[in-house]
Amino acid sequence: MKPTTDPRLAPNESPKTYRVKSFGCQMNVYDGERMGELLDEKGLTPAPEGEDADLVVLNTCHIREKAAEKIYSDIGRLTKGKTQKKAPMIAVAGCVAQAEGEEIMARAPAVSMVVGPQAYHRLPDMLDKAVRGERATDTDMPAIAKFGALPARKRRSPTAFLTVQEGCDKFCTYCVVPYTRGAEISRPFNDLIGEARKLIEAGAREITLLGQNVNAWAGEDDVGRPVGLAGLIRAIAKLDGVERIRYTTSHPNDMEDDLIAAHGEVDQLMPYLHLPVQSGNDRVLKAMNRAHTAESYLRLLERFREARPDIALSGDFIVGFPGETEAEFEDTLSLVDEVRYSQAFSFKYSPRPGTPAATMDNQLPREVMDDRLQRLQERLNRDQRAFNDALVGKTCDILVERKGKLPGQWLGKAPWLTSVWFAQEGGDTVEIGDIVSLKLVDAGPNSIEGRLI
Ligand code: 5AD
Ligand code: SF4
Repeated sequence: MKPTTDPRLAPNESPKTYRVKSFGCQMNVYDGERMGELLDEKGLTPAPEGEDADLVVLNTCHIREKAAEKIYSDIGRLTKGKTQKKAPMIAVAGCVAQAEGEEIMARAPAVSMVVGPQAYHRLPDMLDKAVRGERATDTDMPAIAKFGALPARKRRSPTAFLTVQEGCDKFCTYCVVPYTRGAEISRPFNDLIGEARKLIEAGAREITLLGQNVNAWAGEDDVGRPVGLAGLIRAIAKLDGVERIRYTTSHPNDMEDDLIAAHGEVDQLMPYLHLPVQSGNDRVLKAMNRAHTAESYLRLLERFREARPDIALSGDFIVGFPGETEAEFEDTLSLVDEVRYSQAFSFKYSPRPGTPAATMDNQLPREVMDDRLQRLQERLNRDQRAFNDALVGKTCDILVERKGKLPGQWLGKAPWLTSVWFAQEGGDTVEIGDIVSLKLVDAGPNSIEGRLI
C-alpha cells in the first residue's frame, strides 16, 4: 500500500475553481493573495461567493492554540459537506502547515497538499501531483527563492500589502514565528520598487509594507547605497500615485533614527505606529527575551511623538506569561495608562510546542489569565474610545475602501487607521479608491461617523 495515495481523489480531475481562506496576520493575507495569483496563472478561477470551490486552500496561523485547532474542524466541515455541497480538494498552507505538516497528513487523509509559507510558489506542481492522486508535503524554506518564482502582481484594490521582510531572529521565548517563518530575510530594493509599481498600476493608493520585523528591513538602493526601511519608504513615496504608506509590525530593538525622522518628513507616511511591547514589567520582558525594558520602549515612543505629534500608537500584549505575578501584571496596566494607545491587541499567553516558555515552571491557571485579560482590555477599550472621541469635530481625509451595508454608505480609514463611515448625499459621487475630505461628527467604540465636505 502506498501511503502517499488518497484513494478518494478522482484521478485526473483537475480543479477549475478555488478559494483561499486566510487566517492570522496580514502577511498571511498577502500570501493568500499570491497563492491565488499562482492558481489564476494555472488556469483556475476564484469560486464566486456562495458557490462551491473545487480546491480550498486553508492558509493557517499557528500563533495561538485555537488557531491551529480550528483547521481540523474546518477540514471536517469541508469533507462532510457542511461548508459546501461537494467535498473539495484541500490544501493546507501557512504556519500550521509548516509546524505540523506530518501530523496533518497523518490525521487528515482528505488533505492532498501541505505547503509551508516559504514553499507555496511550488503549489502549481503540487497540484499536478494531487490531480494524479499523490499527496504532497513541501515545508522547505528557500525564503527569497519564493518571491522570485511568483507571478507579477495584478490585484485590484485601493489598499495593498507588500511583504518586504520575512522571518524572525529574535526568538522571544513564547513565539513560534522563528520556527514557522524561518530566519530574517529582506527582499531586494529593486524587486520591491517593481512590485510597488505594479500594485499602483493596478489601482493601489495605499501600500502597507509587511514584515514580522519590518523595521529590520535592510538593503541597497538603486545606486548601491545601504538603506533601511526609512530609505525604502522614501523611495516608494516618490513613485507616482502613492498617496499613503504604512508598515507593520516593528520591533523596538530595530528602530533606526531615520524611520522616526521620516514620520515628520514624508507626507505619505501615515501617523500610525504599531509597536508591540508585550509586557510593562522588566523581569517579564527579560524572561520573554525581549531585550528591551519598559522604560526604553516608552522613551522610543516619546521620540515618535516628537517627530509626529498626532501619531496614533498601537501595540500587542500578552497576559499570564509563565510566572507573571499580580504586581508584574499591574506594571503592564501602568504602561498602558502612560502610553494611551489608539488601539491595541491583547492575548492570553498560549504555550506553543517547541518554544522555551512552553516548558517553563509556573504556567498560570486559565482563570488568572481570563481576569487579567479582561482588566487589560477594559483600559485599552477606554483609551481607544477616548482617542475616537477626541477626533470628533476634526476634518480629515479618508481613503474609501468599500461600500457599507446600508445603501449610500461608504467605509474607509482615517490616517490614524481609525475606521470611518459616511453616507453619500443626493448629488455626491463617490467611488472606491477616492480620498475624500470629511468632518468627523460622531464617535463609537470602533469607528467614527463622518460627513462629506
Ligand atoms: N501566546 C499569546 N500571544 C502570543 N503572541 C505571540 N505568541 C504568543 C503566544 N505564545 C502575540 C504577541 C505578538 C502577536 C502577533 O501575537 O503579542 O505580538
Ligand atoms: Fe500566525 Fe505568526 Fe504565521 Fe502570521 S506569521 S500566520 S501571526 S504564526
